[in-house]
Amino acid sequence: MSGAVDAPPLVLGVLVSGSGSNLQAVLDAVSRGELRAKVAVVISNVASAKGLDRARAARVPAVALDHKAYGSREAFDEAVVEALRAHGVTCVVLAGFMRIVTPVLLDAFPDRVVNIHPSLLPAFPGVDAQGQALRYGVRVAGCTVHFVDAGTDTGPIIAQAVVPVNEEDDVEALRARILAREHELLPAVLGWIAEDRVHVERDVAANARPRVRISPGRRPAS
Ligand code: GAR
Repeated sequence: MSGAVDAPPLVLGVLVSGSGSNLQAVLDAVSRGELRAKVAVVISNVASAKGLDRARAARVPAVALDHKAYGSREAFDEAVVEALRAHGVTCVVLAGFMRIVTPVLLDAFPDRVVNIHPSLLPAFPGVDAQGQALRYGVRVAGCTVHFVDAGTDTGPIIAQAVVPVNEEDDVEALRARILAREHELLPAVLGWIAEDRVHVERDVAANARPRVRISPGRRPAS
């Protein structure tokens, strides 16, 4: 691997609400030695989420926190932050986590909350991104990995992958084609973060949008 061998591995906390196939892609990349990271905890707001079963199968602590048991989004996020901190998490991954997060979580992990979204942002934020793309009639679609900010799918973009939209596609076909690319893109981006190559640049004076700079990887030792 070209990553810094002396740097500690990235300690990930993964938040899921459903199937957790992106979580699985991350777990698989870690176990294959392709991603220098450890998944320290998986948290879901849905107790029956398959993602929690995937965590348990990988012997990763699986925590269910029912958002309905908390009086506000902030109170729920406080419980999430507590669980993440208890497991030493340094980077939070929203992998199909269908809750809006608040500054309580974002301020606890500045520039270290990553989301994967099934569209080429800024097109088609929010729910049913694949359906939005089909209804609009776009010819290409894809997925985006970005840092999370206070908006919905508005944070600085780290990486994107593109897929074609075919004439006969329905939402399921497009969803599956995009998901296959998500499973490659998310572990790749986390690998760059693990190598400390991903930085948010802010030009406050110019009042510019924060942008992500990705520095080149180390060459493998010859
Ligand atoms: C993925 O397609 C992910 O991009 C999407 O939910 C799916 C979760 O699948 N996330 C969002 O739409 C967030 N706005 P998974 O549970 O199998 O990883």
